[in-house]
Amino acid sequence: MAALKMGFYAISVFLICYYIANGEPCTRIIENLHYSCMGRNLSSIPSSIPSSVQTLDFSFNFFLQLKKTIFPVLSFLRVLDLSRCHIRQIENDAFYNVKNLTTLFLTGNPIIYFAPGCLNTLYNLQRLVLVDIGLESLQLNINNLTKLQELNVGTNYIQSMTLPPFMTTFKDFSLLDLHANNISIIRTDHTVVLREIGRNMTLILTWNPLLHIEPGAFKDVYLRQLDIRSAFVSFSAQKAALKALHGLNVKRLIFGKYREDNGFHFVDNDVLDGLCCFNFQEVSYYVLESAKTTIAIFRCMINATRITVKGGNIFKMETVHFHKTKELYLINNGLGTLPTKQLSHLHTLEKLEITHNSEPIFAEPFTDLPKLQYVDLSDNQLKIKHCCSTLLSGTPQINYLNLSLNSEISVDVGGFEGLDSLEILDFSYTRVVRIGYLSVLSNLKNLRYLDVSYSSVTFSNIFCFLGLSSLNVLKMAGNNFQGNVAKYVFNNLTLLEHLDMSFCHLVELHTSSFKYLQRLRHLNVKGNYLIKIDFLTHPNLKQLTSFYVEKNSITAIPLHVLQNLPMNLSEFDLSFNPIDCSCSQTDFMLWIINNQRVLKQPENILCKTISPNSDFRVTDFDIDHCVYKKKLIIVLPVFCVVFIVVLSILVYRFQFYLRYFWILLRGYRSPGQQECSYDAFVIFSSYDEAWVMNELMENLENGVPPIQLCLHMRDFQAGKSIASNIIDEGIMGSRKIIVVVSQHFIDSSWCRFEFELAQSRFLMERNANIIIIILEDVAERKTKKVIGLHKHLKKNTYLKWSRDPLSNMRFWIRLRKAIVATKQ
Ligand SMILES: *[C@@H]1O[C@H](CO)[C@@H](O)[C@H](O)[C@H]1NC(C)=O
Ligand SMILES: *[C@@H]1O[C@H](CO)[C@@H](O)[C@H](O)[C@H]1NC(C)=O
Ligand SMILES: *[C@@H]1O[C@H](CO)[C@@H](O)[C@H](O)[C@H]1NC(C)=O
Ligand SMILES: *[C@@H]1O[C@H](CO)[C@@H](O)[C@H](O)[C@H]1NC(C)=O
Ligand SMILES: *[C@@H]1O[C@H](CO)[C@@H](O)[C@H](O)[C@H]1NC(C)=O
Ligand SMILES: *[C@@H]1O[C@H](CO)[C@@H](O)[C@H](O)[C@H]1NC(C)=O
Ligand SMILES: *[C@@H]1O[C@H](CO)[C@@H](O)[C@H](O)[C@H]1NC(C)=O
Ligand SMILES: *[C@@H]1O[C@H](CO)[C@@H](O)[C@H](O)[C@H]1NC(C)=O
Ligand SMILES: *[C@@H]1O[C@H](CO)[C@@H](O)[C@H](O)[C@H]1NC(C)=O
Repeated sequence: MAALKMGFYAISVFLICYYIANGEPCTRIIENLHYSCMGRNLSSIPSSIPSSVQTLDFSFNFFLQLKKTIFPVLSFLRVLDLSRCHIRQIENDAFYNVKNLTTLFLTGNPIIYFAPGCLNTLYNLQRLVLVDIGLESLQLNINNLTKLQELNVGTNYIQSMTLPPFMTTFKDFSLLDLHANNISIIRTDHTVVLREIGRNMTLILTWNPLLHIEPGAFKDVYLRQLDIRSAFVSFSAQKAALKALHGLNVKRLIFGKYREDNGFHFVDNDVLDGLCCFNFQEVSYYVLESAKTTIAIFRCMINATRITVKGGNIFKMETVHFHKTKELYLINNGLGTLPTKQLSHLHTLEKLEITHNSEPIFAEPFTDLPKLQYVDLSDNQLKIKHCCSTLLSGTPQINYLNLSLNSEISVDVGGFEGLDSLEILDFSYTRVVRIGYLSVLSNLKNLRYLDVSYSSVTFSNIFCFLGLSSLNVLKMAGNNFQGNVAKYVFNNLTLLEHLDMSFCHLVELHTSSFKYLQRLRHLNVKGNYLIKIDFLTHPNLKQLTSFYVEKNSITAIPLHVLQNLPMNLSEFDLSFNPIDCSCSQTDFMLWIINNQRVLKQPENILCKTISPNSDFRVTDFDIDHCVYKKKLIIVLPVFCVVFIVVLSILVYRFQFYLRYFWILLRGYRSPGQQECSYDAFVIFSSYDEAWVMNELMENLENGVPPIQLCLHMRDFQAGKSIASNIIDEGIMGSRKIIVVVSQHFIDSSWCRFEFELAQSRFLMERNANIIIIILEDVAERKTKKVIGLHKHLKKNTYLKWSRDPLSNMRFWIRLRKAIVATKQ
């Protein structure tokens, strides 16, 4: 006990230090309702706690004295935990402001002084916990707490279990926990109140040093539960005390001892005879002592409906005739043989559990148990040759059979005859022979749950599950499939909802495996060698909500699979697969990043392409750089198309310039070499044709020497496009170009075009020349309309036509000179 207190003390010191180091304010657990201020070394309730609070954990703080000023008015507070707050004194009005409390914990406070009325203000209190507060008596001033249901005064120094007399009126009182006190004697006058208090009480007397119970002390006492584990100082004290309980009526009796204490040894056969003296319906006996002889454990239990015996080295069970037993639990009792003789023909038995035997147990058949429904024989190192009809015959109602964690069980064809009502069958971790090879389960049409995990089964027959038409859950982890049996073996399991094929060495799964599994909701294929999970898109799997495929060999999942995953899939475990994190898988990686809500442990989805041993998470992968690359791949062709279109438009628009250019490159590389048909090509507007014909042509062609002009209306070849004519005949076929500038010239787009072409030749050939004649004055602003004209006029001299005869003559001389001067 001292050690226990030291432990509590150490824990409290640790917690205080821990929380002080963290120094946080109170934690909100449920907004406005539930707060925890545990371990803040506070000496008052912080103002941050709202007045609406209903539950407040204030344990591990620091109040030396509880008085009215400690608590603000918290009318709605129901649960208050003041455990280990160093409280030494509680004043009368301490709980005045929190008087609506229903639960109060004062555990672990070294309370020296309780003011007489301090708890009596708490009219509504239902649960009072006064564990480890140094209490010496149950005579508490709690007469106003008429709604009290539970009083826990464990770990104190109480010597008498006498309750205060006023508690007979506490109608709802149902739990008195006196564990770990100093009660050594119980006399008849100690149980007066208990006898009157009602019939629904649980009394816990564990860990008391009981020496003596006065015979009849519990006569006519009705209890719901009596727990007297480790409540006696000695073995003989227990033996005598059990006898002294005569006349007691208890629904559930728990006795025996805890694991921690030792010192009991079975010496006589009659140690439990006292159990025959009082009435109980359910009994749990926690034994640990080893018996030298066969002990009459069950003799006085035959009228109980529910019997649990745990931890007794019984080896062989005595032969008794249970009268009413419905449930029997024999756990860890070192039985050498299944007690089939003792239990057969027991017509009341519904539930039987014989488990956790440390020794190998020998199996004999159980027969004639017409009401038996539940049989758990797990973890007994059982070895059964011909299961299971021979093990259980005359058990028509059996629906649960657990044979897991045994050695080896062979199942015959027809081995489940007479067990047609089986719904749950568990063979996990037991080597089972012939399941998977023959259709041994074919009559189990009611079977809902089958577990053959880690049962060393090789599924080699596609009909091995034939007849299991109700099967809902199938666990077959850690086994093997032969050939492509997995493709067909589930064919008739149309009601299957849960399928576990983890660690089955599967390399591939085909959609046809799931062809008939329209109801499948949970599929576990963890720990196989799967590369593809295309089968998930099968329309029959649309009900799937969870899918576990961790620890396989998946590098990528194609987009069409991801887009057609079952709609309601909410758990998808893809962790520990060797994911390919290259830019070709951006869709997949993006899907992972965006679906972390669905993915289980996304932090364990790791890139294995970056480095086989790396822990680089897919969710940390930088998709952007892949997206950039991808954009480039898309943008580049678009750019090319646009470029080509623009180029084509430009080519079309400037085709003549280009042609001209081409001509230059082709034939007129050196102007000196070329053969020119004309001396000058005249660019003019057709409005000025009269002047050109009458004046220009007249004066130049008929003068001396005659100058051959190229005029479009006269010299251009028929059948050739105007543009070609301009280039071939005019610009390229003439040595000089005469430009007749007038208002109409500027307005004509053809003229402008011709002039632009002419200029380009001028640019190409230095000695080419353009002679400009200003026929009429044109505003400077307008000359800017024709590309290059304005510049040309500024840089070069030009001829200006005038009607005045004198300047007229000078004009013709200058013009002729300009043409001739360059004519070489
Ligand atoms: C807790 O507070 C009390 C006074 O409120 C003080 O005496 C004590 O040292 C504090 N404990 C720690 C661990 O800070
Ligand atoms: C106590 O609770 C009742 C309802 O259960 C409420 O009407 C009353 O106001 C509360 N009184 C105090 C003092 O908290
Ligand atoms: C207990 O109840 C009685 C009567 O109901 C009342 O007079 C008395 O003040 C109450 N005690 C306390 C401490 O509230
Ligand atoms: C327990 O009770 C006995 C008397 O029955 C007494 O002598 C002993 O001191 C008590 N022990 C404690 C720890 O109170
Ligand atoms: C008996 O007490 C338990 C709690 O200990 C309670 O749940 C149950 O309803 C009570 N039964 C009767 C009949 O009062
Ligand atoms: C069992 O109950 C029967 C009456 O139903 C009674 O005669 C018999 O003594 C009881 N046995 C034990 C061991 O309590
Ligand atoms: C069968 O018994 C084992 C071991 O006691 C237990 O873990 C398992 O859950 C039981 N199986 C079923 C289906 O209850
Ligand atoms: C189910 O089993 C029956 C035989 O019991 C067979 O005729 C039927 O074809 C099977 N159904 C499927 C879907 O395999
Ligand atoms: C998905 O779940 C919803 C609600 O849980 C259900 O109504 C619906 O039928 C489910 N869809 C599929 C395809 O199973």
